[in-house]
Amino acid sequence: MAVSASVAAGDSGADSKLVEQGRRIYQEGILPSGAELVGQRFDNITVEGKQAACMSCHRHSGMGAVEGDSLVSPITGNYLFHPERTNVATMDPRVGKRFSERHDPYTDQSLAETLRSGTNNRGRKMSVIMPHYKLDKAALAALISYLKQLSVEPSPGVTDDAIHFATVVAPGVAPERRKAMLDILQTAFRQKNGSTVVGTKRGGRRHMVTAAEMILGTERKWQLHEWALQGPSETWGEQLHQFQAKQPVFALISGIGNGTWQPVQDFCNQEKVPCWFPSVAEPPAEPSFYAVYYSRGIALEADALAEFLKEHATPKPKRLVQVFRDVAEGKGAAAAMAAALKESAIPVENRPLPAGSADALPQALANLQPEDVVMLWLRRADIAALAAVAPPQGNPVYFSAILGGGEHAPFADAWKAKAQLVYPYELPDKRLLYVRTFQSWMNMQKLAIVDEPLQAEVFFAVRFLTDTTSEMLDNLFNDYLLDRLENMLSKSEGLKAEQQSRDVASLGAEGELARRYPKARPLAETVNLPAGMVSVGAKGTLQSTTLYPRLSLGIGQRFASKGAYVVRFGTDGKLLAESELIVP
Ligand code: HEC
Repeated sequence: MAVSASVAAGDSGADSKLVEQGRRIYQEGILPSGAELVGQRFDNITVEGKQAACMSCHRHSGMGAVEGDSLVSPITGNYLFHPERTNVATMDPRVGKRFSERHDPYTDQSLAETLRSGTNNRGRKMSVIMPHYKLDKAALAALISYLKQLSVEPSPGVTDDAIHFATVVAPGVAPERRKAMLDILQTAFRQKNGSTVVGTKRGGRRHMVTAAEMILGTERKWQLHEWALQGPSETWGEQLHQFQAKQPVFALISGIGNGTWQPVQDFCNQEKVPCWFPSVAEPPAEPSFYAVYYSRGIALEADALAEFLKEHATPKPKRLVQVFRDVAEGKGAAAAMAAALKESAIPVENRPLPAGSADALPQALANLQPEDVVMLWLRRADIAALAAVAPPQGNPVYFSAILGGGEHAPFADAWKAKAQLVYPYELPDKRLLYVRTFQSWMNMQKLAIVDEPLQAEVFFAVRFLTDTTSEMLDNLFNDYLLDRLENMLSKSEGLKAEQQSRDVASLGAEGELARRYPKARPLAETVNLPAGMVSVGAKGTLQSTTLYPRLSLGIGQRFASKGAYVVRFGTDGKLLAESELIVP
C-alpha cells in the first residue's frame, strides 16, 4: 500500500492531500469518492456519515473518551503505530488514571484488517460499539495517513518543562477591569507553580501539584503572557499571529474586551489554539470548535428580554426604546435586541448616545410614551451618570447585567427602585454555596472583590483549566483540551445520552467498566483533586463557582450557560426574581 511514512514531517502536495482526505473521513464521514462512510456494528446497527465518522467516538484529538460505561480507546498516531508509545495514560473521573491496553504497533495491514473485521491486533473481538468498515484502497490510504499524524507531538506552547498561556486584552478596556483579571490569573499561576507557600504551620511546603501530575511526574511550569491588542479590530488578527510566532501558546485563557471578539476567535481557529472562557460581552454568533464562552453575552440578554416582553410583561409594551453608546459594543447590543423583537409586534426605537459625551442621557430619556419600555445598554460610568437624571415615571426600565456589572452597578437610589436587570447569572441566594470557594480564595489571596461577575469568571476559567489540563496527564494536545471539556461539562446530553443508554444496555447490567475495573472507585476516593471549584460529584453533576446557573456543553456547543432571569431590587437591596430562568 502506497502510504508514505513521512506524513507527519513532510507536507509535500501529495501527502497533504491524502491527509486532508483522511481528515474528511475521520471528522465528517465523507470518503474520497464523495460518498458517505458506512459502518456496521456487531449488533447490526448501521451507522453512516457523521455518525460513522471516527471523530464521533474517538473525538477530535483521537484520544478517545470514557462515555458512560464504554471506553473508547485512543487511536492517535503514537498509540497505533509508535514502537514504544502504544500505551497511553488517560484519566477517567471514576477510576483515576488508567492505561490503555499495551499492544504491538499496528501496521497498515493490521489496521486495515481491524477496521474490516472489528477484531483488534491482539485478536480480541472489540466491543459492539466499534463499527467495522469496508474501505477501498484509496480510503484506507487517506485514513491511515491522517491517523499517523494525529496528536503525535505536544501542541505548540508546550515544552519539556513549561506550558505557555496567553490572555488577550483588547483596547479600550477599563484599566481596573484589566487589573482585576490579571491579578487573579497571575496569583493562580503563581500558586500552580508552587512558589506559594501554603499554611504557615508547616512552613515552606510547596503548594500541591495535582495528584495526577505527581503520579506521572509531568509537572510543568505555567507561564502567562499578556497579549495587549492595539488599534482597530481589523488589525488584531495580524497582531495575534505575531505574538504566536514569537512565543507560541497552548491556549488563550480568560481575556477581556468590550466590543467584538471575532478576530480573536478567528485566530484561535486558524492556529488551533483553544480560546478558554474569555470575559466578553459579545462573543461571535457563529461558534467555532476552538472557542468556548460562558454565554452568548448580550445576545442572550436581548433574546431573554424579548421573550419576557412578549410572554410575561403586563401591560403589553407598545414600543421598546433602547439607549446605548454609539460604539461597537452598544451598536451590537442594539442590533441584537432589534433582531430579537423583529418577529414581534413591538417596534424598537434606537437612541444612541454619541461616544464620549456625558450629557446626552437626559435627552435620550425624554419623550417617552406611557406604554414604552426602556432598555439601557450601559456600562458603569453611564449608570453612575444617571444619578443626575430623574427616572421615567410610568415606564419599566431594564438594564444589561453584563454591561453594568449586575447588582453591583452604581445605581442612584431613585434608579435602583425602578431598575430591572436582565440577569444571566444565578440568583444570589441560590449561588451562595457555589461562590463561597471563590470568595474565600480571594480573601486568602488578599484580592479585593471589585467586579464580582468578571472576577468570578476569571477565577473559574483558571481553576477549570488547571483541573482539565491536569486530567489530560501527559497528553498535551490542544484538541484534547477541548475534547475533555465537552466530556466534563456534558454529562448526559442529547445524542450521546441516547447512544450511551443503548451502549450500556448492550453491554449488560454490569457494564464494561465494572468488568474491566472491578476495583474502580470514585475519583474522589482515589486521588485528591485540588480544592478547586470544579468537581464531578458522585452522580456526575458538575458544580462550579461561577455566578452562572448551570454550565454545560453538549457535544459541539460552545456557550456553557443558556438562560437569564429578569430581576429587580427589593426594598432591602436584595435581588428579587421577576421571572423564572428564561432559556430563549
Ligand atoms: C460508534 C463509536 C465508534 C466509532 C464511530 C469508531 N470507533 Fe473505533 N473504537 C470504538 C470503541 C468503543 C473502541 C474500543 C473497543 C474495544 O476495545 O473493545 C474502538 C477501538 C478502535 C480501535 C482499536 C484500538 C486498539 O486498542 O487496538 C481502532 C484502531 C479504531 N477504533 C479505529 C477507528 C476508526 C479508524 C474509526 C473511523 C473510521 C473508528 N474507530 C470509529 C468506538 C468507535
